[in-house]
Amino acid sequence: MPPVKKIGVLTGGGDAPGLNAVIRAVVKAACNAGIEVIGLEDSFDGLLDPSRTRKLTPKDVTGILRLGGTILGTTNHGNPFEYPVDTPEGKVDYSDKVVETFHKMGLHALVVIGGDGSLSIAHQFYLKGIPIVGVPKTIDNDIVGTTSCFGFDTAVDFAAESIDRLHTTAEAHKRIIVVEVMGRYAGWIALHSGVAGGADVILMPEIPFDLEKVAATLRKRESFGAKFSIVVVAEGAKPIGGTMTVKSAARAGYVERLGGVGIVVAEQLEEMTGKEARCVVLGHLQRGGGPTAFDRVLATRFGGAAVELLQRGVFGKMVANNPPDIVPIPLADVVGRIKTVPLDYDLLRTARALGVSLGD
Ligand code: F6P
Repeated sequence: MPPVKKIGVLTGGGDAPGLNAVIRAVVKAACNAGIEVIGLEDSFDGLLDPSRTRKLTPKDVTGILRLGGTILGTTNHGNPFEYPVDTPEGKVDYSDKVVETFHKMGLHALVVIGGDGSLSIAHQFYLKGIPIVGVPKTIDNDIVGTTSCFGFDTAVDFAAESIDRLHTTAEAHKRIIVVEVMGRYAGWIALHSGVAGGADVILMPEIPFDLEKVAATLRKRESFGAKFSIVVVAEGAKPIGGTMTVKSAARAGYVERLGGVGIVVAEQLEEMTGKEARCVVLGHLQRGGGPTAFDRVLATRFGGAAVELLQRGVFGKMVANNPPDIVPIPLADVVGRIKTVPLDYDLLRTARALGVSLGD
């Protein structure tokens, strides 16, 4: 394959703090190596409409390291293979058009920064002949093959600080406060922020809960003189034998949206314990704002490693954190799977050992 001289970069799926840090690293490393970079706006939409592209130089990425969001924009319903349209079918396949535009623009390779959805689209385009390097992004930490993704540390940090704040008001009012956090089908954010914030109960998708047991834990705390409790609930947590709380079902081009379990848990615990309960949903605050130092460094390492790969002509891979190294792993091994919290994770054992209820 001839040397890579011009690349495209895009961000796909939900945003995560650190996206701009990756874009910055890719642009600086590539331009310094004599490679031209084209920024594609709003995920793969930028390859459907060439007017939504722009050349990026080091000057364009100055000052974005610390910024949340993404200067390129993103979407989580722009899959070119199943583009949502207003027809009876509800979707249309624009993938050939994307491949055509990629070649018309004279691009030699594409850096796709995204979560499992965007990486799976990236893999499909790799199979259609586009040389692709993937960069994993998600606050949920649920991408397989990488120990961490940028965005997760920032989300956990914010959630832990929120739990700290909720502790003081819960204590003042002798209330139960239920904090609903994101994470989709994985409990990483709930477990890490719950432990970091000293939660009394942590409920997560991997361990279906029994609210009678949770209520018993809260009553026991009361009998020891603790008049308040903090319950962290992952949006994907579900009762034993029950289902996740879904805000909107999946449809053509749109994934299932979770949310609402926190309020259900708060209402039921109030009834069971006779104590006043409140629910706080942290929602998109977990995704907003600038990245932590850890996420800036990880994002920068991913961006640098992605450029190294495309210079070496290595495609169809995702850069992954495998401490102490950043390594390439096949996109094929990543897509269609999610990394949930393993039940033998030491932090789960430690949480239990410390008396945290996991609802089972
Ligand atoms: O994947 C990140 C995430 O924030 C999940 O934790 C959450 O379920 C989802 O995205 C929400 O996405 P949106 O509101 O952007 O559709």
